[in-house]
Amino acid sequence: MMQILLIESDDSLRSILKLNIMKTIGSDVIEKKNAMDAISLLEILPNIDLVICREQIGLEKTGFRLANFFETERHSTPLLVIGKKISEYQHLVVIDKDQSWQNIITSAGSILGVDVVFDDNKLTNEYVPVGIEYFFNITSTSMGCDVFIRVKKGEDFQYIKRLHSTDDFTREDIEKYRTGGLKEFYISKEHFSQFVNFVTSQITLKLEDKKLSNTDRITMTGEAYAITLDRIQSMGVDEHTIEIVEESIKSMQTLMGENNALASFLQSLRANKLSYAYSHSYLCSLILHKVVTSFDWQTSQIKDKLTFIAFFHDISLKENCMRYSSDAEVANSNLSNEDKKIVLSHANLSAAIVDKFPNAPQGIGAILKEHHGSKNGIGFSESLSIAISPISMMFIVVEHFVDEFLKIDGPPKAQDFEKIFEILTPKYNKVTYEQTLVALQNMTLNKKKPVS
Ligand SMILES: [Fe+2]
Ligand SMILES: [Fe+2]
Repeated sequence: MMQILLIESDDSLRSILKLNIMKTIGSDVIEKKNAMDAISLLEILPNIDLVICREQIGLEKTGFRLANFFETERHSTPLLVIGKKISEYQHLVVIDKDQSWQNIITSAGSILGVDVVFDDNKLTNEYVPVGIEYFFNITSTSMGCDVFIRVKKGEDFQYIKRLHSTDDFTREDIEKYRTGGLKEFYISKEHFSQFVNFVTSQITLKLEDKKLSNTDRITMTGEAYAITLDRIQSMGVDEHTIEIVEESIKSMQTLMGENNALASFLQSLRANKLSYAYSHSYLCSLILHKVVTSFDWQTSQIKDKLTFIAFFHDISLKENCMRYSSDAEVANSNLSNEDKKIVLSHANLSAAIVDKFPNAPQGIGAILKEHHGSKNGIGFSESLSIAISPISMMFIVVEHFVDEFLKIDGPPKAQDFEKIFEILTPKYNKVTYEQTLVALQNMTLNKKKPVS
């Protein structure tokens, strides 16, 4: 069987190329993510029939390194480079970088002497789900990306086209789908990263609009938050992730300064417009900003830090992993073992993520690490540690309050708060923990008692 070595860093493009090469050319495909790994393989497996790579992957001159390797080692392996001509290597074929994956496969086929026929039934056009919130802030998908819904047909799923790539649509059109209970659309896997980047830049632009009303800003920051969580899970932190997060945090900071921030939030919450993840982060931020005014160490820098902490503390978690607050709850949950591990180390993981953001205030990582009370960022501490920073102590009490607050059904009543404090008061009985609790009580019961 023929063997093709495919070097491509984009996971979704690599997998679509691999699957369709196997189906149309019928060769085996070995995948590598960069030239260095590919060359180590070629050293032990020199009889590869074709190597496909980009001219450049990140900072690496992938095409050049491979051509150079073949020349020095006197190989005659055909090399298909996507991009510019980078070498005089005799067996080099170059195709333009903006080729569709079908054209890349056709070129690969002609090098190998195989006539490639794209039979629609044979193609693997895998679909991936994208949350409906991706569609609220765009009016077309562009880029040839059709949009489908998935329906169950017997044992299988069928994908039915709902929006053509050339269609224009409005937020109201998409709202209708949500009202009908739709949570996600599907797009073809090959369009995924391009589509997500497109939506990210559109929503980032919208958040920059100074004239947004508070309710619109809350909703839109919530949609941006969902996209950020998804991006971090599927694509990691890149320049688009950094841009959308910076704009979201600015937006949150604008909202924190508004007098009616809580009322607008509750209004959007009741209209079911906000995800749990975002409500949790937003409310933590809002309450931290209020509570901190009772402490004499409040400064505008501290307030900025609090927004970052609230935004990032659970950023490493998927939405279904967010409602756990003890090691025992995690152990007894029906999460997969992989997810259990992630939940238990999420404080550490979130700290590692925030480190990738160049404009995050100093020291945020350390606070995120201890946001469940353990210094090493693993698990949920049962006891009140006094070895952690006062901001972390304050966060722990506020987060607990928010967790309980979000369990309230309907508009919160005085008894609801009494119940919350029945849970919190015996637990938080020393140093900053206790001071935060008192500040929270004063705030919710509208008393002006000083924090002692
Ligand atoms: Fe949390
Ligand atoms: Fe957490």
